Amino acid sequence: MSETNDKLEAAIRNPKNVGEMENADAVGTVGSPDCGDMLRMWVKFREEDGKKVIDKATFQSFGCQTAIAVASVATEMIKGKTVNEALALESSELSESLGPLPPMKIHCGQLVESALKDALAEGTQGANEQGAISAPSEASMMGPSLVDAIPSSAAPSSGKIKIVPLEPEEEE
Ligand code: FES
Repeated sequence: MSETNDKLEAAIRNPKNVGEMENADAVGTVGSPDCGDMLRMWVKFREEDGKKVIDKATFQSFGCQTAIAVASVATEMIKGKTVNEALALESSELSESLGPLPPMKIHCGQLVESALKDALAEGTQGANEQGAISAPSEASMMGPSLVDAIPSSAAPSSGKIKIVPLEPEEEE
């Protein structure tokens, strides 16, 4: 087994930052119609030297182990970064510590990048300045609604990658 595979395997076996975050400042949810996998990411900010930086991030994923591995290292990597710094990161950078992903798994990293960008877009809209955000309900995490949220118009098409942002269900 190559060193790259070892790193990937290790991250899959022992993923960090898994789970819903209470009191998150932002949440992003995306789904890949190509493979049916979904990923949700929560982000909490803090003030550091007058700047808003990412304090911590957590995620939940349905399905793919590679996406779990990338989300694990990505949620570690973005700690302490500003929103703009994190937004500038591409999936290849987020997964860099795992080594190059196999071609069939490139979109797994892109799923993580999209979830992060979806969350950070929300975090920059000013709607969460009080740090208050409704956490997605448990039902929305586990029930069919998240699956149903993937538009049928985004059905898999000849090898193209399409990742769509999904609106989390809020409890208000
Ligand atoms: Fe689709 Fe990994 S196989 S996200």
